[in-house]
Amino acid sequence: MIVGVLKEPISGENRVAATPESVKQLVGEGLSVTVQKGAGVAAGYPDDAYKAAGATLAATVDPGKLDVLAHVRPLAPATIKKLKKGAVTMGLASPASEAAAVKALRDQKVTAFALELVPRISRAQSMDALTSQALVAGYRCVIEGALRLPRFFPLYMTAAGTVPPATVLILGAGVAGLQAIATAKRLGAKVNAYDVRSASADEVRSMGGTFIELEMDVSADGAGGYAKELAADRVQRQQELLTPYVTAADVIITTAAIPGRPAPRLITSKMMKDMKPGSVIIDLAAETGGNVEGSKPGADVMVPVGASGGTVTLVGMKDVPSSMAYDASRLFAKNVSNLLTLMTKDKKVAPDFDDEVVAGACLTHDGVIRHEPTAEALAAPPKAEPKKAAPKKGAK
Ligand code: NAI
Repeated sequence: MIVGVLKEPISGENRVAATPESVKQLVGEGLSVTVQKGAGVAAGYPDDAYKAAGATLAATVDPGKLDVLAHVRPLAPATIKKLKKGAVTMGLASPASEAAAVKALRDQKVTAFALELVPRISRAQSMDALTSQALVAGYRCVIEGALRLPRFFPLYMTAAGTVPPATVLILGAGVAGLQAIATAKRLGAKVNAYDVRSASADEVRSMGGTFIELEMDVSADGAGGYAKELAADRVQRQQELLTPYVTAADVIITTAAIPGRPAPRLITSKMMKDMKPGSVIIDLAAETGGNVEGSKPGADVMVPVGASGGTVTLVGMKDVPSSMAYDASRLFAKNVSNLLTLMTKDKKVAPDFDDEVVAGACLTHDGVIRHEPTAEALAAPPKAEPKKAAPKKGAK
């Protein structure tokens, strides 16, 4: 069976769905791997390394000749339409936002595995791309913060005087937030962190951070270990209680998310106004609506603070795992090859839908959308366009 890997077509996406290491694993399973020439170059994996690992290289790879297509970003409907019936795809699929691609996968009778849907259970950790890519993002956020901060992270006791450590505040302590805590600690900062889930206090402490207890009088534990959205009055209360921590921080990293919802607003412009000039805020959620008011994906916004004319640098993060494409690809490709290996027997990819990991990760199979929330969303009638108000008489 042939597993194909194409160069990711979206500009700005440097990752690749297979590395020489993952190719070796797949070849060891008895699969043939065809890699498009140059597919790994932007991530730092040259063609020769794939060849040495046992892959076949081709200037162009026809998706119609593949049994399995491994990818990073969601596939374009035009590519899906070239796949043969019964082909397997494996990669990120963003089912909530890529309706046209999901319909194309269904109509083409493709067996599509969406890495976002891999159950977050211990046995599936080696296939969990949300975790591996969030780990990369959490690390990178701290590095971006440290680069922009005109201060040291660690305590320095020098002949010229003592420099106190920077104070870093992490809001949202899921996978990315915990990795940010660990990275900021390694750089020597004083780290405070907060999350709404009840389990997060111990997780923060286990990474060496100080957990911030807020008197919120509400549990935000949702299904599957995720957080629930807070009611409007609780959002406001959270913002009030967080303000002194925001004011005291040198670097703030926000990573809060609610599955299927826009990013919760944790920091408003009002909360920033007493921050120290030169401080930095890194908003990892900038692409999904922003945890911080005013953040723009891919841009640094200089926010005036205080009366002195100083500013805070508000960084809206974008395509973060792609900016660390070598290691992000290494982990992503391993997630793909581990999931593929799980369903490979006697040199054939044969998904066993009695396996909860395989069944959970499957988006479409044999003309059916198997992921119920996606099937329901696509079956729902389209939302009516809001009626435009009739123009007032005399209005131009
Ligand atoms: P996520 O990316 O959905 O959210 C990030 C964090 O934002 C979460 O910790 C969430 O509680 C927090 N958050 C949401 N609203 C907030 C608010 N208003 N204020 C402050 N924080 C807020 O979450 P992620 O990182 O994907 O992890 C979700 C869960 O999955 C966690 O419980 C994690 O421990 C668990 N997990 C389990 C794995 C396994 O067992 N295989 C692997 C990875 C994660």
